[in-house]
Amino acid sequence: METKIYEENEIAAAAQKIKEGELIAFPTETVYGLGANALLPESVAQVFKVKGRPSDNPLIVHVTDFQQVLPFVDKIHPLAEKIVEKYWPGPLTLIFSIKNGVLPAVVTGGLSTAAFRMPDNKKTLSLIKESGVPLVGPSANTSGKPSPTTSEHVYHDLKGKIAGILEDGATAIGVESTVLDLSDPTKAPLILRPGAVTKEDLEKELQTTINVDKHLVKESETPKAPGMKYKHYAPDTKVLMVKSEDWPAALAWIKDKKIRAGVIAGPQIAEQMRYDTAAVYMYPQDTVDAAAKGLFAGLRALDESWIDLDVILVEVFPETGLGTAYMNRLKKAAAQNYFQPTAEEN
Ligand code: TXA
Ligand code: MG
Repeated sequence: METKIYEENEIAAAAQKIKEGELIAFPTETVYGLGANALLPESVAQVFKVKGRPSDNPLIVHVTDFQQVLPFVDKIHPLAEKIVEKYWPGPLTLIFSIKNGVLPAVVTGGLSTAAFRMPDNKKTLSLIKESGVPLVGPSANTSGKPSPTTSEHVYHDLKGKIAGILEDGATAIGVESTVLDLSDPTKAPLILRPGAVTKEDLEKELQTTINVDKHLVKESETPKAPGMKYKHYAPDTKVLMVKSEDWPAALAWIKDKKIRAGVIAGPQIAEQMRYDTAAVYMYPQDTVDAAAKGLFAGLRALDESWIDLDVILVEVFPETGLGTAYMNRLKKAAAQNYFQPTAEEN
């Protein structure tokens, strides 16, 4: 199958493919999604197949407004409308309890709840509108690879397997949406996956307590979002997180042991490291926003680099605000491993 790149003036043609049951990847403000008609079980099954995704990992249903969600929902949470009003379109996925049989079981993994999101991307909102149906949209990567933040990443993973990609350059945020569980109207909202809409934001806006799934605090707990149990990305190259005070020791280590290291960092650290490292992926500013936007692209670039690296060293950020989501994704890629200045590797 030829995978066509669709430009803005070809959205109607892309929507036609969706209507025919084909798969079209679409841009969002977080990462690219793999779109298919959420009401057609065969198309949704194809999404799982081309990604190589475990069937117990349910999909997010992408919509153009809250009106499109209401027919599916069983019990509305008292805070739902206020949350939607404030954060949609945006990087916030909401889990609702749904009516029996309104969505194919393949979408929800057979759960009595489903995930909904209105992405903040004009082209994709027109694609959904023109398709006339809500679209499932897992991140448009092969399972086990970092989520795609450019159409090139999508093309790399899925070319020949999907009908097309709606092109819109690099995504603005770079980490997937916050997943917020509103399925029990009697309980406080619960964050299942951290993203750009943070616990701090939500608490301030809603003047209420927002809970966080225990697995995000304690590793031994089982996550409530099925997808969170999978290791997101296992690069062939070892990834180590480096605390800001440990960069001089890391530099001494790679020089001393002649380690071929790659570095993913902002300008300040990248400048220090550039003469003694084999490859540097520098994002343009020393901010957590720039780091989050560049993390997946950096991991892809260095892991697939023609230079055979021994290790990829990545900058860490404090776990507040967007730093919570950034560190959640980075820790998975690094299998929780930090550079230890006192360990053997030093
Ligand atoms: O930013 C995003 O959310 C992107 C863009 C494309 O919208 N999509 C995305 O989809 O990250 P995906 O499939 O890679 O992640 C969906 C997450 C998974 O962790 C899944 O387990 C969880 O949402 N999820 C979906 N339905 C759920 C449900 N009913 N209950 C709990 N978790 C659910
Ligand atoms: Mg994903």
